[in-house]
Amino acid sequence: MIKNIKKEVGNKINSKIKNKIIVKTKEKKPAESLKPEKENVLSQQNKELVSQKKSKLLGKTIEKLDNNEVDKTKKKNIILKKSKRGERAGTGISGFDTMVEKGFERESINLIAGGSGSGKSIFALQFLMEGVKKGEKVLYITFEEKKDEFYENMKKFGWDLAKAENSGKFIFLEYSPEKVKMMLDEGGGTIESIVFKNNIERMVIDSITSFSLLFDDELSKRQANLGLFSIIRNWNCTTLLTVQYDPLDKRDKEISSIEFEVDSITLLYFVSIKNKRERFIEVLKMRGTNHSKEIHLFEISRGGIKVGKKAESREMS
Ligand SMILES: Nc1ncnc2c1ncn2[C@@H]1O[C@H](COP(=O)(O)OP(=O)(O)OP(=O)(O)O)[C@@H](O)[C@H]1O
Ligand SMILES: [Mg+2]
Repeated sequence: MIKNIKKEVGNKINSKIKNKIIVKTKEKKPAESLKPEKENVLSQQNKELVSQKKSKLLGKTIEKLDNNEVDKTKKKNIILKKSKRGERAGTGISGFDTMVEKGFERESINLIAGGSGSGKSIFALQFLMEGVKKGEKVLYITFEEKKDEFYENMKKFGWDLAKAENSGKFIFLEYSPEKVKMMLDEGGGTIESIVFKNNIERMVIDSITSFSLLFDDELSKRQANLGLFSIIRNWNCTTLLTVQYDPLDKRDKEISSIEFEVDSITLLYFVSIKNKRERFIEVLKMRGTNHSKEIHLFEISRGGIKVGKKAESREMS
């Protein structure tokens, strides 16, 4: 009986998510259907419209932003925001950018997968701080890290998050997986208004594993992730999602349900070799990119992550 009720509620949530996907697809159409020659003529007008809209919104706090306004802004941003697709977002990770043609493709969704302590959060932060260095606004959404402790730890890598936050370039959002689920039901909610109001260019969700844990079966997990990706795609940010995954464990199916939905997958290994743990990095896929097919050694030290030479085949066996 309880099982049936659970199933029924699950189906309702799933159909809600499906509806959201359909609505989003409809919203995206006008931007995609613009002819290239029209796009050029429109881009100048669009720039002006966007900057007018932005200056109107800047005086308001996120909480005070009323929903209609967010909706209108959302549509305008989707249609008017000049796409940076085709450009690269450098990570600032020495040795990594050369593996992937100078960085992640702008506005793509990328998975950073690895076991506990493999360096996912540090990788993600380094990517965000590179954006800050370039004058971009970035958003870090975490379910796992506590702000004060996290800021303190990141100082060791030379990243002053408090300073970046005060300058308005870095936004730290401690979020519960339940709130993200709510965001899905609302079709974007508060996070979306933060992204549009601040014109966020880079975003990290650390990690989607905690979010996936809210769903008990593979189908609802997959549908929830699809709903999440569908919403994120409208935001035109370059996004990194971290995920807890053991690349050496063939039974670990954590990324199998989403591997086709993301634009790239980077694996971080932390393996024991001759009584010592070594770190390795591998780009499993990156759409539209002639990426390195080698597994490289990397280290975490004062400046963050540094990717080194390719691993000898015996090192990974
Ligand atoms: N200052 C530092 N210098 C060198 N290595 C460090 C330093 N700080 C942390 N590390 C290494 O980085 C690891 C943590 O990296 P990170 O937090 O990015 O891992 P993670 O993959 O996000 O882990 P989790 O799954 O627990 O969130 C530590 O376990 C340690 O090995
Ligand atoms: Mg982490």
